[in-house]
Amino acid sequence: MAKADFAPTGAPEALEEATRGSLDEPQVRAMFDRIALLYDRMNTVMTAGLHHKWRRRAADLAQLSPGGRALDVATGTGDLALELAARVAPGGEVIGVDFSERMLEVAGAKGAARPGIRVRFETGNALALPYPDGDFDAATVGFGARNFSDLSRGLAEMKRVVRPGGRVVILEITTPRRPPLSTFFSLWFDRIVPALGSAVDTQAYAYLPSSVRRFPGPDELAAVMARCGLRQIRYVLTAGGIIALHVGVV
Ligand SMILES: C[S@@+](CC[C@H](N)C(=O)[O-])C[C@H]1O[C@@H](n2cnc3c(N)ncnc32)[C@H](O)[C@@H]1O
Repeated sequence: MAKADFAPTGAPEALEEATRGSLDEPQVRAMFDRIALLYDRMNTVMTAGLHHKWRRRAADLAQLSPGGRALDVATGTGDLALELAARVAPGGEVIGVDFSERMLEVAGAKGAARPGIRVRFETGNALALPYPDGDFDAATVGFGARNFSDLSRGLAEMKRVVRPGGRVVILEITTPRRPPLSTFFSLWFDRIVPALGSAVDTQAYAYLPSSVRRFPGPDELAAVMARCGLRQIRYVLTAGGIIALHVGVV
């Protein structure tokens, strides 16, 4: 595991370009609607079940307490929101927001099966969050930021809805730079994931590796966070450098 504190560098134009996605929003939404029922199972197959552990770490970084209030952006099937909800219980509340109705239906069913956990799943766009300024103690996004059509805007929105002193946490897949992990990563993401995914949805699981490659590396992402006004930015790399957890303070 590697840790780094970050000071922003690099040309703003290059960073801006790095934050632009290539599928438009209706395409992304339709894609997640299509794969919603198989999304969790595919995650478990593709990560050997490790994705739960990574979301637990992201939830820890949000530093929530019982009675707190948190937002999970691009919540999908809701696993990170449920992790957050366990940390704000008793008395707290978590909202999971996403623009894919089908993903939210799966999330809602999981939430309903967990009595004592207060989590609400709502439809909304990460680029225009339907919540007032400073409404939450923390905002998280797990494996969702690389799908934002405008990363800077999505992160600025997360910062806006968190109170001063609260945290913004980003959990993402990142491309390892050094062998042997980089070789394994290429084999896994460019060949095995699309092959496995073709049984479910060819477009979605071809999009996954390209969206990961297009996404800013850990330092660049930290720079985007800094430009959105977040402070005390740190990141941790885990799973041999394949998973990055970034945290910034509002
Ligand atoms: C790879 S899934 C991640 C789901 C979940 N956070 C997890 O940890 O597994 C990405 C999710 O981001 C959502 N998404 C992408 N762009 C969005 C946007 N602009 N607004 C709301 N949701 C968005 C998709 O609908 C999808 O559910």
